[in-house]
Amino acid sequence: MRQTIAVHQPSVDQPQTDATRRRYDRQARLYDLTEAPMERLAFSRWRSLLWSRVAGPRVLEVGVGTGKNLPYYSPQWEAAGIDLSPKMVERARRRAATLGLAVELQVMDAQALAFPDASFDTVVATFVFCSVPDPVQGLREVRRVCRPGGQVLLLEHVLSRHQPARSIMQALNPIMVRVTGANINRETVTNVQRAGLEIVSVTDLFAGIVKLIEARA
Ligand SMILES: C[S@@+](CC[C@H](N)C(=O)[O-])C[C@H]1O[C@@H](n2cnc3c(N)ncnc32)[C@H](O)[C@@H]1O
Repeated sequence: MRQTIAVHQPSVDQPQTDATRRRYDRQARLYDLTEAPMERLAFSRWRSLLWSRVAGPRVLEVGVGTGKNLPYYSPQWEAAGIDLSPKMVERARRRAATLGLAVELQVMDAQALAFPDASFDTVVATFVFCSVPDPVQGLREVRRVCRPGGQVLLLEHVLSRHQPARSIMQALNPIMVRVTGANINRETVTNVQRAGLEIVSVTDLFAGIVKLIEARA
């Protein structure tokens, strides 16, 4: 008798996803340099806050980029990181080697994660769901690979609720996507809920635009 095996394969907008990959491949070489002022001014403080909340021990970082979060990993964790851009992953691997960190870093799409259900206790992403082409699909995948009741921690910039900032962000979004790859009009707190995750807390870090979101799978 033939057995049917269910293969998990969510549908993905491939042209959009390929365009995102190309954008970040292009940015990889200068990414750390261009981000350096913001990193010093605020990002590193926000990263510390997020990572201080990570419970682990099985931790997945989605959109690991050049590995800016790697210095915050605990060596006690069983950690993995993925990113759509091979050039970003290459840099993250180099950073992990410099730090002497044992972390599995792979090229993978957040919208179709190649991990079994409930593989992780904590899933983290920083400044990622602004550029994932279908953020709700990506967040559904985060929910699937996180164990039921597990922890999801996101650091994200979102669309302002206040005028005139809201209209300005909406108007500038197409240019920002073309130049940086990031959408500045995402409603990530709502997207987290739409993906079936339960919001635990939302901490406003800057002007209602940068948020630390904690959710439960
Ligand atoms: C703004 S960078 C942030 C990188 C890093 N998390 C940080 O905090 O510096 C966004 C990252 O998300 C990755 N990314 C975008 N879409 C993705 C997807 N569908 N799957 C996985 N990674 C993705 C990009 O390749 C890029 O490395």
